Amino acid sequence: MTRFRHRHLLGIEPLSREDVLAILDTADGLREVLDRPIKKVPALRGKTVVNLFYEASTRTRASFEVAEKVLSADSLTIATATSSVTKGETLLDTARNLEAMNPDMIVVRHASSGAPHFLARHCKSAIVNAGDGAHEHPTQALLDALTLRQKKGRLEGLTVAIVGDLLHSRVARSNLWLLTKLGASVRLCAPPTLVPPGLGALAPVTHDIDEAVRGADAIMMLRIQSERMAGGFVPSLREYHARYGLTAARMRHAKKDALIMHPGPMNRGVEIASEVADGPWSVILDQVTNGVAVRMAVLYLLLGGAPEASL
Ligand code: CP
Repeated sequence: MTRFRHRHLLGIEPLSREDVLAILDTADGLREVLDRPIKKVPALRGKTVVNLFYEASTRTRASFEVAEKVLSADSLTIATATSSVTKGETLLDTARNLEAMNPDMIVVRHASSGAPHFLARHCKSAIVNAGDGAHEHPTQALLDALTLRQKKGRLEGLTVAIVGDLLHSRVARSNLWLLTKLGASVRLCAPPTLVPPGLGALAPVTHDIDEAVRGADAIMMLRIQSERMAGGFVPSLREYHARYGLTAARMRHAKKDALIMHPGPMNRGVEIASEVADGPWSVILDQVTNGVAVRMAVLYLLLGGAPEASL
């Protein structure tokens, strides 16, 4: 299996094409472990991983936990809502105290962009970014790429439309970096109020969802992040659905074999209609399954897993 030359996984932007392919190829190799009757290998026996989640999560947190268990790492999860963070303990003090217990890795999700980079500067553990503010969500982009490659046989030459709340989306940013590194074309679509400054320099932006969908090989829908929208970025969710929601009627503009993706959690009836989310185009649950394989690969490569024989 390919070696990975980074100590941390902080984002997709700093990775080379070869780094990304090393993770995807390792995930492809490890995926079969999940189909075995006994889904456990000793690759990371003796390694300790702390999952430190300052924001809510279902998929990311659960799939890191499953990946850690399958690889035989010892792991614990700190949900900060029930930790001493509620008593005012800082991120650095929390991390330093956890480090005093000698873990090998900290997987961190935080509302502030750059929080994992800050920990990487101050901690001796390997740091994995499980989502930082509106900055990056690297393992999400990797599992999206794994799903696309699995379903389409390649990434190079694909056209991927990313549609929705681009302003608050770390998923959009990580996918944009990854897909363009691997030779796919990305088009972005959002209302003008939900396009962050500068993003248009990286990929073409349209405000017309039918134009975004037309001819795309995959359509990645993004969640409207209502919890981050104090400023009235859209007139109403009903209006947003009418203008930007992906419906079966809109899928008539898409290629017959277009894939529908969503990182979850979905707002059904807002950015995506149930008939699309649950329809024949959807690979949304495949993305979740691939999330375990990608997180296994990241753990394995960063923690220097035992030789292949132990898999
Ligand atoms: N895709 C994603 O990050 O989902 P969670 O917030 O449930 O982890």
